[in-house]
Amino acid sequence: MLSIKAHKSAFIDIINSMCGIFGFVSKNNIKAVPIILDGLKRLEYRGYDSAGIAATTVRGVFSRKKSGRILELEKILNKNVESSSAIGHTRWATHGAPTDKNSHPHSSCDKKIYLAHNGIIENFRDLKDKLIRNNHKFSSDTDTEVVAHLVEDFMNDKATSFEEAVRLSLKSIVGTYAFTIIYADHPGKIIVARNSSPLLIGLGDEIKFVASDASAILPHTRNVVYLEDGEFAILTKNDFRIANLDRKAIERSHEKIEWSPDAVKKNNFPHFMLKEIYEEPEAVENAIRGRLVIRDGLAKLGGLETVEKDLRNINRLIITACGTAYLAGQIGEYMIEESGGISAEIEYASELRYKKNSLNAKTALLAISQSGETADTLGALKEIKRKGILTLGVVNVIGSSIARETQAGVYNHAGPEIGVASTKAFVSQLTVMALITLFLGRQRGMSLIAGRKIAEELQALPEKMKKVLTRAGDIKKIAKRYHKFNNFLFLGRKYNYPVALEGALKLKEISYIHAEGYGAGEMKHGPIAMISKDFPSIFIAPSDSMYEKTVNNIQEIKARNGPVIAVATEGNKEISKLVDDVIYIPKTIEMLTPILSVMPLHLFAYYVGVFRGHDVDKPRNLAKSVTVE
Ligand code: M6R
Repeated sequence: MLSIKAHKSAFIDIINSMCGIFGFVSKNNIKAVPIILDGLKRLEYRGYDSAGIAATTVRGVFSRKKSGRILELEKILNKNVESSSAIGHTRWATHGAPTDKNSHPHSSCDKKIYLAHNGIIENFRDLKDKLIRNNHKFSSDTDTEVVAHLVEDFMNDKATSFEEAVRLSLKSIVGTYAFTIIYADHPGKIIVARNSSPLLIGLGDEIKFVASDASAILPHTRNVVYLEDGEFAILTKNDFRIANLDRKAIERSHEKIEWSPDAVKKNNFPHFMLKEIYEEPEAVENAIRGRLVIRDGLAKLGGLETVEKDLRNINRLIITACGTAYLAGQIGEYMIEESGGISAEIEYASELRYKKNSLNAKTALLAISQSGETADTLGALKEIKRKGILTLGVVNVIGSSIARETQAGVYNHAGPEIGVASTKAFVSQLTVMALITLFLGRQRGMSLIAGRKIAEELQALPEKMKKVLTRAGDIKKIAKRYHKFNNFLFLGRKYNYPVALEGALKLKEISYIHAEGYGAGEMKHGPIAMISKDFPSIFIAPSDSMYEKTVNNIQEIKARNGPVIAVATEGNKEISKLVDDVIYIPKTIEMLTPILSVMPLHLFAYYVGVFRGHDVDKPRNLAKSVTVE
């Protein structure tokens, strides 16, 4: 999509894993530990089961690894280790429990080759058996370790160079990977490789970096080179060379990342999640910047221009995504069905591939993903694309796999989202869905007046969102009162039904409280049985076409002594007489209401998580980019 070149890799219908990889090559020996730790801490949101480091030194490779958070690793590290090439890894466990021995980097028998890996080596059992027959001794349960021994094996047996041994090893592997590899006898050198797991090279003046994503590199440089699938690169003190696995040299110039280094800092906020909720108005501003022609009631989406004619011909849009992005897609489905003039349907990316979809030339697929790396979404996208269907993306991370794989799309420009719980990306995705609705609608029957109204309301949103943030103190007080309850029901209708689902998802993720989202109308068909004085409900009840019916549902809960918090439109005094607590949001048009109504729910989940003493930026068992199926 946009300026990103077509992605050339073949379809790989397999899983890969999350984890964060970071490394550097420097012209001189420098203190490696603080640099690697800083990089790893910025990538910790990708996984935090264990962490490790390896650095070439004058006395061979220095390596330490530890289960648990990066802080645990930090405690056992000598900060004075000097090195000109070092790698680090933060793990989200797949093969092998999150123990010290399974942490990366892994090494060869002679302790000269060390590597960190993100991905899954599918044929690792076969490789391991062969290597054991060649007397290799393994010290972990991971799939990754085989590759360190494989490189060593090629170097032992065939007297091949380090580079050639890595290339031959990569050719022997079936699976997905991003690798960083160092060799004790070649200080000042890192070999990196990519296949379906993200990896980029950062070009500083004295130091070159490698990382799973740009957030770790940004404090050092904004000039990056993206590695493509099936490529490896050799980084030395003086240069870097990229080649494919058949040794064909590849020339690639660098790109400039637009994100500011400040975007990956907490600044004065206690958590990234809170900072990112406070960035929600800015995320909407960035999503609409330069994209609204108010006078003509139009959305100008440069990323869709190349397929504008194809879009005129489609009559059905399948939207696919996971988690919070799915919920943004569900609201997008309502928007497009109601105002975009075509039929829209949302599908979980993790299910889409298993359905027999009757697709035709008038169908397009839209994948939504903050990270652009979610394996389920990428897998669904590749499967549908293989059937010849036009594929579009709404993606935040520029140059990510989904951005590359789609034929056209719209970037969110929300800036990096570090908190594992998605917040500002959600409102940004909703904004882009509204822009796409306007774009499609105005290609079809939507009137100038209707288009202008949507454009004007979009433009007015950031100020209204800032007003919601001024109520954070009240929301915090409400969260304090309710944080000890162990069950919550979130209820809404139409556009605010997916908002109810998002409120419940966020509360589950951050506070580990059982929370369910339901369509308010469905509540009486079952969930109402759970209601008691100990089971609060949160109603999203703005003054829209659904209001009267939603109020009936509130009455039903109150009649059964259930505590109720309502998110309602400013000026609605009546509702405060019905419910226990009200959080007010400004008025906007119905299809944009979710962008305002979700903000109190994000704040509520955040404060409840904090009051319950959780690490809200890194909730247990989760990782930011879910690159496993
Ligand atoms: O990067 P993506 O938008 O593709 O991620 C999709 C989901 O994994 C993500 O939204 C997840 O549900 C969040 N943790 C929700 O807060």
